[in-house]
Order: sequence, then C-alpha cells, then structure tokens
Amino acid sequence: MSLPDNSVSESHANDLEFSKALHDHDTARNGLLSTILSKDKTAFETVVNNYMGYWVEKDPVTESEDDKEARRNNYTNMTNSYYNIATDFYEYGWGECFHFCRFNFGENFYQAIARHEHYLAMQLNVKPEMKVLDVGCGVGGPAREIAQFTGAHVTGINNNDYQIYRARKAAARLGLENKTEFTKGNFMSMPFEENTFDAVYAIEATCHAPVLEGVYSQVFRALKPGGVFAFYEWCTTDKYDHDNPEHRRIVRGIEYADGIPELFSTHVALQALKNVGFEIECAQDMAINDDPIPWYYPLEGDLRSAQTLGDYFTVFRMTRFGKFCTRALVGCLEKLGIAPAGSLQTQSVLETAGDCLVEGGRLGIFTPILVEGLIGEQ
Ligand SMILES: C[S@@+](CC[C@H](N)C(=O)[O-])C[C@H]1O[C@@H](n2cnc3c(N)ncnc32)[C@H](O)[C@@H]1O
Repeated sequence: MSLPDNSVSESHANDLEFSKALHDHDTARNGLLSTILSKDKTAFETVVNNYMGYWVEKDPVTESEDDKEARRNNYTNMTNSYYNIATDFYEYGWGECFHFCRFNFGENFYQAIARHEHYLAMQLNVKPEMKVLDVGCGVGGPAREIAQFTGAHVTGINNNDYQIYRARKAAARLGLENKTEFTKGNFMSMPFEENTFDAVYAIEATCHAPVLEGVYSQVFRALKPGGVFAFYEWCTTDKYDHDNPEHRRIVRGIEYADGIPELFSTHVALQALKNVGFEIECAQDMAINDDPIPWYYPLEGDLRSAQTLGDYFTVFRMTRFGKFCTRALVGCLEKLGIAPAGSLQTQSVLETAGDCLVEGGRLGIFTPILVEGLIGEQ
C-alpha cells in the first residue's frame, strides 16, 4: 500500500491558526472545567462532528474497505481531531503522560507511569550528552521525565498544536526549556536531517500511523547509525480472531475511541520494522506477566488495587460513579450552553475507549505494551 498523500499536503500554519482559535492558546488554564469552558464553541462542535464522521453508523463487521481507506487517507485530520477534543479529558483523567504501564504493590500510579518511561530510557542506554527523539510526544510528560531522569536532551515531535503548546508551557514551568524541545510535525514525514538522534523512543503513539513502515522508516532515517529505537506499541495479539464478531467489536471500539486508523498485529509490527531495515534485538509483550495488578486496572475503576490515597482520587474518576459525575457535570454544562456542544459525546467516546481497552486486556487480544528494542544500521 502506498503512503497517503495527505502527509505532504498538510498546512502547519492553518493547523496552528485553527488550534489557537479552538483552544485559546493565549490563556494558560488547567483543569477540565476551565479548559472546556474556554473552547470556541463552534470550532469544538465542528471538530467533534468531523471526528464522528469517520466512524458513526459504520458497522465493524460489514464496513467497506472504502470507509477504512478514508480513515487511512485522512489519518492526520482524523487523529488531530481526536486529540483536539480528547486532550483535556486525558489530562484530567490520567495526567500528563498519556500511556499505560505495569503496576507493583506499594507503588503509586505516577511512580508506576514514570518507571515505565525509565525502563525505555534504560533500553536505550541514554546518557546525558545524548540527543533523544520522542515520537508522538503528547503533552510532553514522558519527554520531561526522561530529560530529568537521564540529563539528555529530548526533542518531542507531535502533529497536534494544542499538545505542543501544553508541552512547552509545562517545560517552562519546570525550567526544562534547555533540555527539551517540542516540534510540530507529522511522524510520517519528519522534519529532521538524517542521522540526527542518538536514540529514539515512542510511547503508544506509532499506532496512529496508517502504515507502520511509514513511521518506522522515518525513525530509521533520523537515527544515527547504530542507534537504538525502543518503543511501546499498541497491537492485537495472537489471541485476536478477526472472524470473531466480539473481538472485532472490541478492537474496532479501541480504534474508534482512540483515534486509530487501524490496529495492527504484533507480527505486522515486527515485520514492518524488519522491512525498513531494523534489526530486532528484543521484542516482548509486557502485558503477559505475573503482575499482581493488571495494566488496565485504573480504567476498570478498581479501587481495591489503588495503592495510595492519591491513587483513589485518580482511579475514582474512572469508577462507574466517577464517570457518572463527570457525565452529569459535562452534560448539564452543555445543556445550559456553557460547555460547547459535543463535550458530552467526547466523554462518551472516552468511556467507550476505557471499556474496550479493559475488555481487550482481559481477553488478552490487545496489548498496549509490546516493547521492542532495536538497533539501527551499523
Ligand atoms: C496516546 S498519545 C501518547 C503521547 C505520549 N507518547 C505520551 O505517552 O504521553 C499519542 C500521541 O501521538 C501523536 N500523534 C498521532 N499521530 C501523529 C502523527 N502523524 N505525527 C506526529 N504525532 C502524532 C498524538 O498527537 C499524541 O500526542
């Protein structure tokens, strides 16, 4: 399959202008309520409708190849719309690092999230003098953590202007402007010279690529010869049965509710790495383990697995009652015309995401933590 040509026709100036109008970049706000209320209502509704247009009333079992192709061809628009509506909800519900992790007894949620990032830094053997690239960096939580943990310089690339704005603000707040940099760009056509980075990592981001070879080959190009690429990939596992309607519904739910054009299997991911020239040093599904607490426990809202008082507050938001409270608040504000139309629908999409991820995790048909340590060209 050839790469979609919207990777070259995108306009960064238009993206930025739209993002500023939608999110009001000039006023720093924190907290779900405050950020939602600051949105341009018309722009927000337009983005929600645009995103829904890629999915609504298209049955995963009977959906035509054309519908799927439309999502793949418009992946930048589709994924950017998703993050334009979901970013504030993510920060509210999960924090500044938009990824899963493994959990240990006695370790709080944010320590576990940071340990997951430290593990990647260890795989990469990051040293203070290194230049490191974070592919699909979100609002920069992992980049800031890895820069602080290792002393290296971390550049984050992201296609979403609002997230870049949030990432830069947070870096300035922590005095990390000299250790981090956040660049607007599509990871399918990265704006970096060949052989720029000593090490590259990606955390649960490359699953947004319509073709994995597209993003992996860009990493290969940006990485210095002999450099290592380590990342966490979202994949379907060998337990996934495409002919099982229940499996299809769950995986399709993950795609729909997480802005993913198409989830690929672990085999496709590994083959794509080889196809672009990587040598695979190790590949492990870290979701298969003896951990006492599963990676998806916060999404289940399982308060029994919370390790600290702080965890109760984080996990409470994802309990049925917590979700009911958020839905009631957001729904009332939308009805009163205070929050933009589409806010409640966004909350509902994210609830679907949580439910399908938990179902996929319980059945073992999906993994968010396939880690791969790879060596670039020698
Ligand atoms: C689940 S978030 C993970 C973010 C970050 N790695 C973290 O762990 O906090 C996925 C990220 O990939 C970014 N992304 C998706 N498609 C992209 C593309 N084509 N080019 C650059 N970034 C992209 C999104 O904007 C988002 O920030």
